[in-house]
Amino acid sequence: MTFTVAIDGLAGSGKGTLALALADKFNLAYFDTGLLYRGLAYVALDEFGEDFTKTNVINIAKSFRVNTLKESNLRSPILGKYASEIGAIPEVRKILIKIQREFKEKSPSNKGIVVDGRDIGTVIFPNANVKLFISASLEERARRRLRDFLTNDENISYDEVIKQLQKRDQRDKERSVAPLVAAKDAHLIDTTNINKEETLEIASSLVAKKLSD
Ligand code: DC
Repeated sequence: MTFTVAIDGLAGSGKGTLALALADKFNLAYFDTGLLYRGLAYVALDEFGEDFTKTNVINIAKSFRVNTLKESNLRSPILGKYASEIGAIPEVRKILIKIQREFKEKSPSNKGIVVDGRDIGTVIFPNANVKLFISASLEERARRRLRDFLTNDENISYDEVIKQLQKRDQRDKERSVAPLVAAKDAHLIDTTNINKEETLEIASSLVAKKLSD
């Protein structure tokens, strides 16, 4: 059985940073599943413009090749918004389940995997060895997002970031299929008042314990 760490959480909670650091520390392969939804949004916008339909996206998903997309193209706030809308299409989620599980089967690390997203511990890998659910206050998440955007020269206000995050949280939590929710057996980590290093320390001790079981 491939050792699996499933990390779910809110936009801007720090789950991606944590996932990457854990993968690095324990030599595990890392998969950021948000890139799948962002990638679909990127192709849909490129091929059909802003009026793309559900059917357009389902067709793109059917022949989607993850490795054709460059990560640097996918991080913009606008793609985050469309990715969240696309994540609410049940047919798309069904197609993406297969891609995500294949990553585990063909894992490039024989030590195990770290996968982050919204439904990893609940739907994709319900038997994961370690499940983490990462949260932080809306205001703190907005401050972090704003810092990232400014670093990338994106011109956006704090109030606008708050609005975008609220909308995204709501859509991700309220969709009918695989809504964002903590798995019953997930460890909850609130990163509002702790930094990256402290978050990594808490998560690392949980992972190390399971690895030595
Ligand atoms: O983690 P992120 O910000 O890159 O994700 C962008 C959107 O993609 C998120 O708001 C909802 C969707 N998503 C999803 O529905 N399920 C996942 N496992 C990952 C992302």
